[in-house]
Amino acid sequence: MKKIGICNDHTGLAYKTRLIAYLLGKGFEVVNFGTDSPESCDYPDYAHPLANAVEAGEVDGGIALCGTGNGMSLALNHHRGIRAGLAWNTTVARLVKEHNNANILVIPARFVSYRMAVMMVRVWLTSSFAGGRHQRRIDKIVQP
Ligand code: RB5
Repeated sequence: MKKIGICNDHTGLAYKTRLIAYLLGKGFEVVNFGTDSPESCDYPDYAHPLANAVEAGEVDGGIALCGTGNGMSLALNHHRGIRAGLAWNTTVARLVKEHNNANILVIPARFVSYRMAVMMVRVWLTSSFAGGRHQRRIDKIVQP
């Protein structure tokens, strides 16, 4: 992954700003789809533009932040081409790539430290999808 999209609501603004600096420092290109205002806002307004960009291949993957991570996850996973996975520690961040091949990592900004958030981003970016039985399971997600 070279080009990362990122989105947030007001609860994720501080972490988003720091994560952008972290990613740019690591040589990634970053596209910001989130709010840059601390005013209260509606997470779907920022989730859908990120999801559209991932689906269109305009970015290679995404990171989304809201308070619990659930609002972003729910909105993002309405998109057929999106597998948005919520993570709260580095093991889950690894497994959400290895098992679920999440193309968007969702971070619950109100419930993890910034240190944990950046470690999860690093782990998610450097992990690989395991394929095999996990591909079969992913295929079944869109065949209810
Ligand atoms: C905002 O208060 C909060 O509801 C939002 O960030 C998110 O946690 C929703 O799921």
